[in-house]
Amino acid sequence: SHIIQIGLFGYGVVGQGVYNILQKELSNRVKIQKIVVKDLTKDRGEASPLISFAKEDILDNPEIDLVIEVISDAEEAFSLVAEALQKGKKVITANKKMLADHLQELLHTVENSQGTLLYEASTCGSIPVIQTIDKHFAYQPITSIRGILNGSSNYILSKLNQGGISYAQALAEAQQLGFAEADPKLDVGGYDSLNKLVILNYHAFGAIGKSEEILHFGIQHISEQDIAWAKNLGYKIKLIAQSSLQPNGELISWVLPSLVHSESELYTIENEYNAVQIEGLYTDSQLLKGKGAGSLPTAASIVADVLAVLRQEPYINSAYSGKPKTQADASLAVYV
Ligand code: HSE
Repeated sequence: SHIIQIGLFGYGVVGQGVYNILQKELSNRVKIQKIVVKDLTKDRGEASPLISFAKEDILDNPEIDLVIEVISDAEEAFSLVAEALQKGKKVITANKKMLADHLQELLHTVENSQGTLLYEASTCGSIPVIQTIDKHFAYQPITSIRGILNGSSNYILSKLNQGGISYAQALAEAQQLGFAEADPKLDVGGYDSLNKLVILNYHAFGAIGKSEEILHFGIQHISEQDIAWAKNLGYKIKLIAQSSLQPNGELISWVLPSLVHSESELYTIENEYNAVQIEGLYTDSQLLKGKGAGSLPTAASIVADVLAVLRQEPYINSAYSGKPKTQADASLAVYV
């Protein structure tokens, strides 16, 4: 049957994971034709013959139908993704900063092109949170979303809580393990959680807000004493992102280090795991949990999107249209 040709932008932690999973699991359905990278001096192992530095090798190649974008620079990613969409290609991206910074423009571009944009991997790594919201909550009003959306911060806080390690050591570990952003300030400053919350706000509430409008504090000023004090009282400090719909229709969103009690479901979420509690009108509270960072867990969500493209799942053309789910949602504002 027809084999889909893929162009891959980026061959870092996530790009290599995508390459490995596709080779192992879907090599009879898809073929990576080109991998475009910035640094041509690095050894790319068995992927070497596919490596190029010219974006045209993907964007101007009519055989390439599907573009996977996993570079870290958000502005560069935006220009690549916008061009691929305008050329009618299907695009899968993990770039949450690009999505949060340019959501409105991207949705507009998708609507005015033959392209498709999928980004399950952008939010909470391996957790299928966007698909869950789009498919299972499509008809059901969501009243709140609350969770741990950044693996690196959760890793650092978990290690500090376990003891015997400094903040700097824990951060260095999160970097070595491939959890942290190229600029880890995005993680520990709360910005990465914020970007993911902006994406979830769109899917859950039809709200398009800007991350800088949302109240946020990171974990950089949490001390070992703070953690010990919380522990004595039966709490852990976790970086929590939350959006809740108020009875008057306003959406309150924030990202803050918070005290999480041992009876809370979020208390047991450790290391690079993420979790999202979704509260729906009919379902009450549901918890999704899984690895939120790392090469293979993140790549797995990208491959799930590849599969959605292969199966031509109907949701890929409707759920991302940018139309609010109800009229009421259209008037939502994001408040601090
Ligand atoms: N730096 C991110 C994190 C990677 O630590 O969660 C996954 O988006």
